[in-house]
Amino acid sequence: MKIFITRPIPQAGIKLLRDKGYEVLVNEAAKERGAEKEEILVGIKGADALLSTLTEKIDVQIMDAGGPPLKIIANMAVGFDNVDLEAAKQRGIMVTNTPGVLTDTVAEHTFALMLALSHRIVEADKFTRAGLYRAWGPMLLLGSDLSGKILGIVGLGRIGSRVAYHAVKGFGMKVLYTDVKRDENFEREFGAQFFENIDDLLPHCDYVSLHVPLTGGTLHLIDERRLKLMRTSAYLINTSRGPIINEKALAKALKEGWIRGAAIDVFENEPKVEPGLLKLNNIILTPHIASATEETRGKMAALAAKNIIEALEGRTPPNLIK
Ligand code: GLV
Repeated sequence: MKIFITRPIPQAGIKLLRDKGYEVLVNEAAKERGAEKEEILVGIKGADALLSTLTEKIDVQIMDAGGPPLKIIANMAVGFDNVDLEAAKQRGIMVTNTPGVLTDTVAEHTFALMLALSHRIVEADKFTRAGLYRAWGPMLLLGSDLSGKILGIVGLGRIGSRVAYHAVKGFGMKVLYTDVKRDENFEREFGAQFFENIDDLLPHCDYVSLHVPLTGGTLHLIDERRLKLMRTSAYLINTSRGPIINEKALAKALKEGWIRGAAIDVFENEPKVEPGLLKLNNIILTPHIASATEETRGKMAALAAKNIIEALEGRTPPNLIK
């Protein structure tokens, strides 16, 4: 069996595959950059399984370039918008993702961003390094508390629910949420309130955190009209997928004060960042690292490898996308 891995990934995953006696080819050239399509088209020749990452568009050309029919595409991410699922289905190729193992880490990063915004951590760091800290001041760099504030969660999946847990249990926040389905048990446990429509939720929130997958229905879910529905004192946080927000509209909203601030880990055209955002001080930008801890990236690599092993041994992989 031959496995092609598009980028160097944590050893935990590679070891599981090599221990099975598989031939494992890692595209070492793509260490500091994304894999080139050409590299994938070459590497996939003769492969039974492809271990991909979220920056590669896995399309029909790649699916058909292998030679022997590819059996599985194991995406090392919880999101799988980079894989053409319909084409994979038509070809009988299984597609898997890595849910669950990154939930805590992404929820933590979401809070890291919320706390950094509220306590003005990035501004304060720049201020101190610039030698501007000349005296303690009763009014110096005043931020705002999370405690007692209202958090709107858009998408109550694993990560959205975990963010709600930290918000309510850890920070004494009130949670409002919107999702395609209502969860009354969650509402009882967390004192949360459901909104069927995002338009009705947005005007009530001090913080809005996005946790929906990228689909045709969520593309530009946050656009100019919806940014205007938010409070001028509100913060927007995105650790899901970049194209959920219209970045040009966000730059305008932040510049013109329709909302107070934003923190985003994902971008519309990664790794490019809308130039308008780079000029602003009321946004914090991180380079798609919400799941990037040593522990979690190791678990993601191992889970992708396990999905491959199960599929190649003729069993249903644990994270098969149906
Ligand atoms: C990261 O963005 C992931 O989908 O795992």
